[in-house]
Amino acid sequence: MNSSENDRAACHLRWVKQYGHVFVYKSLLNSDRLSTVDPKALNHILANPMIYYKPSHLRLTVGQLIGEGLIFAEGAAHKRQRRIMGPSFSLGHTREMTQIFLRKAIELREALGVQVDRIPQSQPINIAPWISKCTLDIMGLAGFNYDFHSSTDSGEGESTDELARAFAASNRTGQGYAMMQLLFAWIPPLRLVMFDRATRTADKAQKTMRRIGRRLVEERKRDLAESLASGDGDARTGKDLLSLIVKANMSVDVPPEQQMTDSEVMHQIPTFLVAGHETTATGLVWSLYSLSIHSDVQSRLRTELLQVGTDTPSMDELNSLTYFDAVVKECLRLHSPFENTLRVAQRDDIIPLSKPFVNRAGIAKDQILIKKGDGVFMPILLMNRLESIWGPDAASFNPERWFNLPEATGSIPGVWGNQFSFLGGPRSCIGYRFAVTE
Ligand code: HEM
Repeated sequence: MNSSENDRAACHLRWVKQYGHVFVYKSLLNSDRLSTVDPKALNHILANPMIYYKPSHLRLTVGQLIGEGLIFAEGAAHKRQRRIMGPSFSLGHTREMTQIFLRKAIELREALGVQVDRIPQSQPINIAPWISKCTLDIMGLAGFNYDFHSSTDSGEGESTDELARAFAASNRTGQGYAMMQLLFAWIPPLRLVMFDRATRTADKAQKTMRRIGRRLVEERKRDLAESLASGDGDARTGKDLLSLIVKANMSVDVPPEQQMTDSEVMHQIPTFLVAGHETTATGLVWSLYSLSIHSDVQSRLRTELLQVGTDTPSMDELNSLTYFDAVVKECLRLHSPFENTLRVAQRDDIIPLSKPFVNRAGIAKDQILIKKGDGVFMPILLMNRLESIWGPDAASFNPERWFNLPEATGSIPGVWGNQFSFLGGPRSCIGYRFAVTE
């Protein structure tokens, strides 16, 4: 696939071609929004999360649905949460989770095998819902030791699990609910007279998610206390992210004012579901699509994978497969599940540039002045596809490029794989190792 008019990055790419690597456009309520693909500028914005917050309209909408977990916490609260949660996403813990990824992948293979045997050869199977079920199950088990059993559910229709149903309902009502919350934020008295169906459904779903979330946190705290009291250390506590976070939070090394509250810990459950379920599912579906239209890549990858003598390789065995690594990187580069992200300056700032731009008065400037309240648009997908960085075949699927990367890719301020898919800096994707291994 190349960057056609319908492509997800095409509009922004056109603007960059027309207006250059730094430009400002009008956004919500006539506010100014800076857009840039300048690596130094992006690095500065990402390195300063105390100046650049996520837009308040997102906190008022999606944030209301999932709570102030890591995605929507800002400033000191974000720093505190991230410090406690960071070690739970380490390489060592991810290695231990690989067995969950493999078990669920094998279950998915078996479920798809049944489908293939059941329906006529000529009939296509829509793989997207199956992948989505699989990544939901993985997030449940690895995230908080909760089995949604969705990949072994009958296939169609609503899940039989209460938490999965509540999460799906809150996703379904998301847009209507978001609109209502925005309206209420702009015109508060409306809250008294309008209470629509989306709000009611979202409220009900939230109550269910919070009830189950509270129970899961209580269980983890009790397990840890019992395990420590029994004298065998924490040997019996779980290895899921929630258990690891509860344990890190209760460590004697963490002063009380640096601990996360129970409610913050609980809000990480919907946070993981939102951040780690559809993102990986989207990445996987695009990967399978890419392989389906590039049969040469598919064959070469299959040959490499068949050399692995087991269905349950370790993370290190998987990491040693060089062509597999190149394919994963290329899929996440070309079809980054996150297309872009936004920030809003909390105070006036000066953003440095690696390349000057010429302003309306014809003067070359090597920095941008930004005013408190101005927005910043960070084009993730476009950074992964800029010809000035990746070369003339930037829009093509070509895993070979990873064996001879252009030097310019080193300038992208991304946390993983010379690309921008997981962003960079203190607010980069905390789950990138988890996602890549999955
Ligand atoms: C291919 C899959 C994934 C992609 C492409 C992805 C990408 C991203 C990006 C771009 C951000 C930054 C968003 C922003 O600041 O505007 C982010 C943040 C985050 N991601 Fe991921 N992600 C993926 C999977 C996961 C998984 C599996 C988890 C959890 C297990 C996860 C947890 C998070 C969390 C908690 C944040 C917020 C971090 C913070 O603000 O400190 N993500 N992700």
